[in-house]
Amino acid sequence: MVNRIAGKVAIVTGAASGIGRAVTRRFVDEGARVVGGDVDEEGLAALAAELGDSFAGARCDVTVEADVAALVELATSRFGRLDIAVANAGGGTNAEIVDHDFAEWRRVVDLCLHGVFLTVKHAGAAMRAAGAAGGGSGGSGGSGGSGGSGGSIVTIASLNAVQPGRGMGAYCAAKAGVVALTEVAAMELGPAGVRVNSVAPGLVRTSATGPMWSLPGLVDEYIDNTPLGRFAEPDEVASVVLFLASDEAGFVSASLYGVDGGARTRRYPDLIGTAARLLGSGA
Ligand SMILES: NC(=O)c1ccc[n+]([C@@H]2O[C@H](COP(=O)([O-])OP(=O)(O)OC[C@H]3O[C@@H](n4cnc5c(N)ncnc54)[C@H](O)[C@@H]3O)[C@@H](O)[C@H]2O)c1
Repeated sequence: MVNRIAGKVAIVTGAASGIGRAVTRRFVDEGARVVGGDVDEEGLAALAAELGDSFAGARCDVTVEADVAALVELATSRFGRLDIAVANAGGGTNAEIVDHDFAEWRRVVDLCLHGVFLTVKHAGAAMRAAGAAGGGSGGSGGSGGSGGSGGSIVTIASLNAVQPGRGMGAYCAAKAGVVALTEVAAMELGPAGVRVNSVAPGLVRTSATGPMWSLPGLVDEYIDNTPLGRFAEPDEVASVVLFLASDEAGFVSASLYGVDGGARTRRYPDLIGTAARLLGSGA
């Protein structure tokens, strides 16, 4: 299918790599214009060269409120509106709670949870204001019917929002927070015609997870945890984000969509134990 979001304008955080880049490419393929934010300016420049006038990249650290506000502002100043926001930037760490360095804990929660909060805050405000002014986003709230033209915010959570992993306390806590934040945002922004949903990927091969493939046997642990018996490519996550962003999901809000091959039904790999076993150091 093509042009499922034709004419719409989106922001995507963490657009320079992995899932964010796949979402950005898919959105442009489907007729949208995208403002991508990232701290990786080289990655953004490469994407701009690939996507041309349908894309504008801007340095944006999602943990800095002024950066996120400027990203939203760029969407409206460059492309005239904001219909879709994807709060994607995130990343993890690995330490058991009793050993966890507090500054590192804060870094992960800041990136994964506060970054999503700031993105939802500023994108939601712009969408609600546009709806109240009668133009662009917002729109159909209130009177029933098929709706479908309001704003859509998609937050990228994780399987770890619902399935604990050893050594992943900061990441699990932050991602569970993303799901709760998404539900509250859906409640608060729904009357303005703005839908807010979450996507929870299992293992996806990106630059964040790439090092796992250098330790043979580690990815097998994930595959054993996954009824469909494999990991995902970023485009498979982008497909679900596209659906939620599009009018096809016009009555979907406050939902959590797993893209995990059914992994939620099993047990998350013991990364610390497996890595120690594979490296022969015991843990
Ligand atoms: N890859 C997986 O297996 C997986 C699984 C579940 C959830 N996720 C989530 O998906 C999202 C994307 O992960 P990915 O695997 O594509 O990672 P990735 O490392 O390939 O891409 C993340 C991007 O975010 C950017 N970024 C990092 N810090 C930032 C900041 N402060 N402000 C703005 N941008 C920043 C990076 O520069 C990078 O371009 C994350 O929220 C991650 O937690 C990934």
